[in-house]
Amino acid sequence: MNEQVKLPRLRLGVYPTPFYKLENISAKYGRNIWIKRDDLCGVALGGNKVRKLEYLLADARAQGCDTVFTTGGAQSNHAMLTAACAARLGMKCILILKQRGVTERLGNLILDDIYGAQVRFMDTDSYDDIYNEMRRMGEELAKEGRKAYAIPVGGSTPLGAVGYTECVREIAGQAAEGPASIRHLVSATGSGGTTAGLLLGAKLYLPGVKVTGMGVDDDPFEDIVPGLAAGAAELMGQSLDRTPDDFQMVYHVGQGYAIPNAEDTPSIEELARTEGILLDPVYTGKAWAGMLKLLREGYFGNEGDIVFVHTGGAAALFAMELG
Ligand SMILES: Cc1ncc(COP(=O)(O)O)c(C=O)c1O
Repeated sequence: MNEQVKLPRLRLGVYPTPFYKLENISAKYGRNIWIKRDDLCGVALGGNKVRKLEYLLADARAQGCDTVFTTGGAQSNHAMLTAACAARLGMKCILILKQRGVTERLGNLILDDIYGAQVRFMDTDSYDDIYNEMRRMGEELAKEGRKAYAIPVGGSTPLGAVGYTECVREIAGQAAEGPASIRHLVSATGSGGTTAGLLLGAKLYLPGVKVTGMGVDDDPFEDIVPGLAAGAAELMGQSLDRTPDDFQMVYHVGQGYAIPNAEDTPSIEELARTEGILLDPVYTGKAWAGMLKLLREGYFGNEGDIVFVHTGGAAALFAMELG
């Protein structure tokens, strides 16, 4: 199967994103490591959320919504990319962000403002509080004849995960043109939708490839990811036929979500200084450093190429120090 998904999709990013071998890193580590540059997807500073938003905002449009709500931490990349995509579609964007992390006007909060999003902080640790507030605000908007669409944290719904299957479809096509012999896909896991899409996408387009999610927070992704992947499969009219070795979660959280890890800094600097590629200290830096640790420990065995899916996040570099 290599045809595209049939569900409604808006074209918001510039795809396919580049896919190539990291020559300097591969030579240094004695293993072929490729990169999928979803940080270069053509919206804002790029990032994984755009693939999800192409489906989620198509659904919002189909339902006649003119306003989109979403949430995340104060420096949420997902919130910023939702603001960017909503602006492009002429939709109003309301971000109700947890008052956690860097709340000064730095990094993504500057971009949220440039994209014209309305930003509100809530002093809570519970997304349920925020979803309740979205419902309340949605009812207020309805009285004015407006219609709101609420996207949960990270855009990690089955429909959002469908978007990430597209990434693997692209990789399969790009790998078929070159010498890549892919055995592993590795990416950061923050709310699960990206990894779920990679898992389902691997089943559909790169069978036999193992997906490793690198957890950057402590949620139980062993269950969340296959659950989202199964939901996405259903939407696509497919089934998720799992094998024992098709997916593994590894956690590289350090002191906590969005707290940069000092031990990752040399790896972040190494990629910048050998390949010119920026990683962020919250998601991709942890995923990349975690992947290199696994490589040193022999997790990837001796055979087959590894693909690192670069999911964006660069705005954090302008909001916080590396660890
Ligand atoms: C840069 C970046 N990488 C990875 C992720 C993780 O993706 P997901 O939330 O789909 O697990 C996020 C989520 O916000 C992100 O912003």
